[in-house]
Amino acid sequence: MELSRNSIREMVKGQLYRVPGYASLINASRPLRQRLASARYCYSVWLRHLVAAHEGGLQPKLRVVVELGPGDSIGAGLAALLCGADRYVAVDWVRYTNLASNLQVLEDLKDLFANQSPIPGDEEFAGVNPKLKSYAFPNWLIDAPASNSRVQQIRQALAQPMSERSCIRYLAPYNQDDATVARDADFVFSQAVMEHVDDADSLYRATYGWLSPGGIASHVIDYRCHATSSRWNGHWAYTDAAWRLIRGKRPYLLNRMSHSMHRQLLIDCHFDVAIERQVRAASAIQRAELAPRYRGLSNDDLTTRGGLIQAVRR
Ligand SMILES: C[S@@+](CC[C@H](N)C(=O)[O-])C[C@H]1O[C@@H](n2cnc3c(N)ncnc32)[C@H](O)[C@@H]1O
Repeated sequence: MELSRNSIREMVKGQLYRVPGYASLINASRPLRQRLASARYCYSVWLRHLVAAHEGGLQPKLRVVVELGPGDSIGAGLAALLCGADRYVAVDWVRYTNLASNLQVLEDLKDLFANQSPIPGDEEFAGVNPKLKSYAFPNWLIDAPASNSRVQQIRQALAQPMSERSCIRYLAPYNQDDATVARDADFVFSQAVMEHVDDADSLYRATYGWLSPGGIASHVIDYRCHATSSRWNGHWAYTDAAWRLIRGKRPYLLNRMSHSMHRQLLIDCHFDVAIERQVRAASAIQRAELAPRYRGLSNDDLTTRGGLIQAVRR
């Protein structure tokens, strides 16, 4: 097992989260302005999920859209609303955003759609998945830009999110087993989230319940070590005991599941996997270095650093 400067630093960090107030201090130490994901990032993420589905022969409906773990801004959900979704529900483990601060993101998104801007690709967001065949604006997606009155409704929803008739619901923190998050969703998506979820099995099951039959789950998953090692897949070399030290009391870190483990969980929940895209990289560790729990990883999993899974609810 690697015991490098990285791993020692991450173990210390994990333990610092035991100090009362440390987590909030870390969250507050970056001004909101710096943390807000840009409209262009959110536009790119949302359209990539939709276009990938379309390229793979799926035709998602967008009446009710649920996002898992939006993080610093709910821009991808705002993009969904501007594409005609009636309602957007976001659930997050940590309350990272405050809805009113997303108003500028909404204005910027409105312009991106009005100009039918191409989807920002690798030259701007090299690390973002999925990769697409074409980054042209998907004309088939929307008949007409959102009307002024619809944009005004979305602005109001950001200002008064708890109102009964709001088209936006943001639950953070939330209860993963809460069946009332949504009952009739058409599209559930996540971007760089499912690798962080401790109980991925129960969240996949919950999303099955939130979707209506024929609804689509679309997950982009980043299987890399997230700075816990100097090697991209070095997290699979840590023993369980070392990993517990690294995790410490952080609210979440990594579940260390591979691509095929995520796929299998979705299948076990009765989803039909329709589209899979894997991004490959040569393994940065030798097989002999794998922790006992990961010795059985297939070569495919060991060399998959990112992926998209889109699955249909039966
Ligand atoms: C790397 S951030 C990704 C944020 C955003 N989707 C993006 O693309 O920038 C990971 C997010 O996963 C969320 N997360 C972790 N565990 C979760 C859970 N069990 N349910 C929902 N979200 C979770 C975190 O709170 C955080 O917002």
